[in-house]
Amino acid sequence: MSFECITMVKKERLARVTINRPDKLNALNIKTVEELIEAFTDLGNDDSVGVVILDGAGGKSFAAGADIGELARLDMIEGKAFAARGHRLCNLIENLGKPVIAAVGGFALGGGCEIAMACTLRVASDKARLGQPEINLGTMPGYGGTQRLARLIPRGVAMEMVLTGRILKADEALQIGLVNRVVPHEQLEEAVMEMAVALLSKPPFALKANMEAVLHGTDLSLEDGFRLEANLFAMTCGTEDMKEGTKAFLEKRDANFKGR
Ligand code: COA
Repeated sequence: MSFECITMVKKERLARVTINRPDKLNALNIKTVEELIEAFTDLGNDDSVGVVILDGAGGKSFAAGADIGELARLDMIEGKAFAARGHRLCNLIENLGKPVIAAVGGFALGGGCEIAMACTLRVASDKARLGQPEINLGTMPGYGGTQRLARLIPRGVAMEMVLTGRILKADEALQIGLVNRVVPHEQLEEAVMEMAVALLSKPPFALKANMEAVLHGTDLSLEDGFRLEANLFAMTCGTEDMKEGTKAFLEKRDANFKGR
């Protein structure tokens, strides 16, 4: 698999995808989005991968949004396809069935913020800047941002962000729940690896079931959400890992999960 705008490395059960256009602050041109779709399709199908880290090359930016040069040329028909492509990518990341950690070490603006929101968890450095500035270009988020933002953070704050285009510093993003953790810039890699290693030690099916319940249950009625949870819970009861986890607790030893 060869890419121009991203890199993908797999090592043991951890994969890392890096958006690699640092001279353009990792702006998301169409080629980058297509390559990300190809990479995440592969990662979703690869059972040997348990956790994915998504970051941006260069240390200054996760992704500074859609490529504004390309954006400027869109007509209405192309705009619909452009948004659909972004939705496809973000839905793929969100529903990968394994945790994707966004390592946000700088700008996560526009599409960059939208992709970060589609990730399972977000670790930011104190240099991170997040926002949806599309309003200043006469447009709006088109990769799912209006919907994910309003589900992830308080709706009033989401509304303010999309209407004003205000860029948040890392500490404010943490305060409203837009990121899970903020660490000093130099410690970002260590913090992300720590989180990845912790997730890799968990039983994969239970990770998947928990993600599905939180992601999809919250868009259902409470009653249907409970039903979804009960069904997923029942499925975990059929796994060897659940037998092992409970047995290990009772025997006062660490569990040895096998992913079955
Ligand atoms: N699309 C295309 N190119 C972009 C880009 C984007 N979204 N964001 C940055 N770049 C390019 C710049 O044009 C510049 O390229 P050049 O060196 O060939 O001129 C390069 O990346 C560096 O950006 P620059 O603006 O010089 O860096 P900065 O540190 O002064 O400012 C930002 C950083 C992020 C504040 C600024 O680049 C910016 O506002 N970018 C657009 C953010 C945005 O509106 N995103 C939503 C798009 S829908």
